[in-house]
Amino acid sequence: MKHWACLTFLLIIATASCTPSSATSSPTTPSPAVSTEPGLAIETMPLRQLADKQGILIGSQVNVGILRYDDKYTKTVKQEFNVLVPEVEMKFAFLHQAKEMYYFRDSDYLVDFAQKGNMKVRGHTLLWHQFDPEWIQTGNFTKGELIEILRDHINAVVGRYKGRIFAWDVVNEGINDDGTLRDTVWLRSIGPEYIDLAFQFAHNADPDATLFYNDYEAEGLGAKADAVFALVKSLRERNVPINGVGLQLHVTLNEHPSAEELSANIERLSKLGLIVHITEMDVRLHQPATADELDAQAQIFKDVFETCLSEKACQAFIMWGFTDKYSWIKDVYPGFGDAHILDNTYKPKPAYYVLKEVLLGKISSP
Ligand code: XIL
Repeated sequence: MKHWACLTFLLIIATASCTPSSATSSPTTPSPAVSTEPGLAIETMPLRQLADKQGILIGSQVNVGILRYDDKYTKTVKQEFNVLVPEVEMKFAFLHQAKEMYYFRDSDYLVDFAQKGNMKVRGHTLLWHQFDPEWIQTGNFTKGELIEILRDHINAVVGRYKGRIFAWDVVNEGINDDGTLRDTVWLRSIGPEYIDLAFQFAHNADPDATLFYNDYEAEGLGAKADAVFALVKSLRERNVPINGVGLQLHVTLNEHPSAEELSANIERLSKLGLIVHITEMDVRLHQPATADELDAQAQIFKDVFETCLSEKACQAFIMWGFTDKYSWIKDVYPGFGDAHILDNTYKPKPAYYVLKEVLLGKISSP
């Protein structure tokens, strides 16, 4: 992943340094055609205002580097969302740069920003193979030492934000596409029980936080979704303190779960006593995208949002970015883009309007 190349740099300076080059252009375009002015007709209200009325959590990943310098980005975040997720600022290698060295400046900034704006924060993520730091991978630690490192990390991070971060992705993408456990430094040295330990440590550090296993392509029904189901079922059966499953939903026009499959998966997870969050939705399009493709994209956002709202167990709808101006897609999926609900001038796309329609529909027939 190209962003990985930025990481060393990221560890030293603000994240803005590693945002796409377009990040440096000055914002001169108009705001979304919505506003938070009091007394507005319901149709003109932003997503957040409509969601707040219904107690619905709607949110996005945010990047603190951008939040610090792009006023329009910041204004849009406050206006449209009631739950935020840090894009990189809480990942292991970003936060815990050497055994005795933590860097909390950016994660603190995000949590303070959210608290001032009365927004919730989802912690993302305690463990993810792409952000296992070099010092751990090359440290030749024994199993016992690695367990202590894991305990210290989770205590320090979850403990610092106790009561301020309502939910954590404890393990991210721990399963391969074929359903086997992913080969990571944790699995190799500790064994599969690293997952149990991570949940247990997180629960000990903040017993009130809601703890998730989070993954991609496990949204519908299929081998990977079955493997995630089997893992979380076994965690529940062994009383490991897991509360939910995060369904990432990074999809395309051709590859996305149907509403029926998504419902069925959420329902089987809820029967285990788990809740579900849609955690990272985006719908990437081949470039350049046509108007029809933007409409088809909107339909997918609509189906997923409606499905989530119709399932009691689905308790948050979160996207992995909201403006095409700053998107992880172009670095990771060359030839794709336009994955988000606002364009690169923050203008609402059809996908934005369908989310509003869904919320308006909820208000008129709850
Ligand atoms: C991505 C970020 O968007 C990038 O900026 C970063 O360099 C790498 O990670 N699944 C996840 C997210 O769980 O953490 C990833 O975020 C996107 C895929």
